Amino acid sequence: MLVEGSMRNLKLVTVVGARPQFIKAAAVSRAIAANNAASGSTRISERIVHTGQHYDANMSEVFFRELEIPPPAVNLEIGSGTHGAQTGAMLQRLEETLTAERPDWVLVYGDTNSTLAGALAAAKLGIPVAHVEAGLRSFNRAMPEEINRVVTDRLSSLLLCPTRQSVANLIAEGIEDGMRQTGDVMYDSVLFHADRAKQNRDVFARAGVTAGEYVLATVHRAENADDVGRLAEIIAGLSASRLPVVMPVHPRTRARVAEAGVRLNGSIRAMEPVGYLEMLALERAARAIVTDSGGVQKEAYFLGVPCVTVREETEWVELVEAGWNRLVGADRAAIAAGLAWASASDRPPKGVGLYGDGRAAEKVVAELIAAAA
Ligand code: UD1
Ligand code: UDP
Repeated sequence: MLVEGSMRNLKLVTVVGARPQFIKAAAVSRAIAANNAASGSTRISERIVHTGQHYDANMSEVFFRELEIPPPAVNLEIGSGTHGAQTGAMLQRLEETLTAERPDWVLVYGDTNSTLAGALAAAKLGIPVAHVEAGLRSFNRAMPEEINRVVTDRLSSLLLCPTRQSVANLIAEGIEDGMRQTGDVMYDSVLFHADRAKQNRDVFARAGVTAGEYVLATVHRAENADDVGRLAEIIAGLSASRLPVVMPVHPRTRARVAEAGVRLNGSIRAMEPVGYLEMLALERAARAIVTDSGGVQKEAYFLGVPCVTVREETEWVELVEAGWNRLVGADRAAIAAGLAWASASDRPPKGVGLYGDGRAAEKVVAELIAAAA
């Protein structure tokens, strides 16, 4: 860390690569800018390294533009591939980049292959790793994300936990050093953007629906998209919905649907992935949300919309316990029952403070500064 007079300069490299990471990193970059504008004694210089895991304009560039994220200092343009090929290519290029940059910290988010590669490259170079969204567990090692989480947490010096459950999970694994509960930066993000998102009403006409009279669905998890039986069952459940189902289709799912000859028909209104503000607008005005996304499960709760999760388990168990989220698996009858529950007028009670107080990003920055002192 550079010290000039009484001012310290903390050098941070943020590694991102996939859609949800851009959204999370935007909240922390904003908190870094606020820290630097204040009269504190530590300035943080952040360099964003984009692995290129997501590269379509509507999976990457749109978020940098809309959320005013500082442009990546480097884009490694790794692209798609098998887990080993993709993670290995990232690791090799990240090692070169981090060797050149020599930051005080590497900051990683969530549970993607970009998270794992960032943590592993940094740890092997002796650069401390800070993990935002530490401690999440599905206890399902068949999920690539679970492997990424477990390894990333083992390698991290600062484990920034969004929920009480994530803290309990780390304690159960004996990982307590460097663990802090900050709240969830995705909650900060929804609070910050919710009003702006309300203006994005064109998306309803594009989707061919009326606000308040549709279901919103997203499906992209490998366990659903890459399993033809599960995929067909979920699509059948959605296409039989009484209300129209707006479905921004992730490129993985788009490819698998085409390969498997599954038709997005019936009630489904398929569209290209949308930007974050349009997504928030679609979430807020939905009667119900059906998803296998981690982020979308939480946003449903933040925006007061009941959620039906097409998975067998979730990392965000507090939503299920609070009665806000129902796990229905990949079964058309269970999806129909879930939709009937979600569309009923009685809304389940809202839990209080499950994801912090909306200042998680500020806490992440404070913890980085404190840990470097
Ligand atoms: C990844 C993460 C997942 C996260 C999701 C967020 C891993 C192992 N998985 O899954 O945890 O929930 O991002 O969206 O890191 N593709 C494109 N254009 C793109 C990106 C992907 O066409 O811009 C297609 C390619 O065919 C690619 C496939 O989508 O093979 C899957 O992409 P990949 O990044 O490997 O995994 P995701 O399913 O996006
Ligand atoms: N999202 C978006 N446009 C879409 C679908 C999702 O902006 O078409 C946002 C969504 O609001 C949430 C994040 O992407 O903030 C979730 O990412 P994703 O579902 O891809 O990954 P996960 O959270 O499951 O890792």
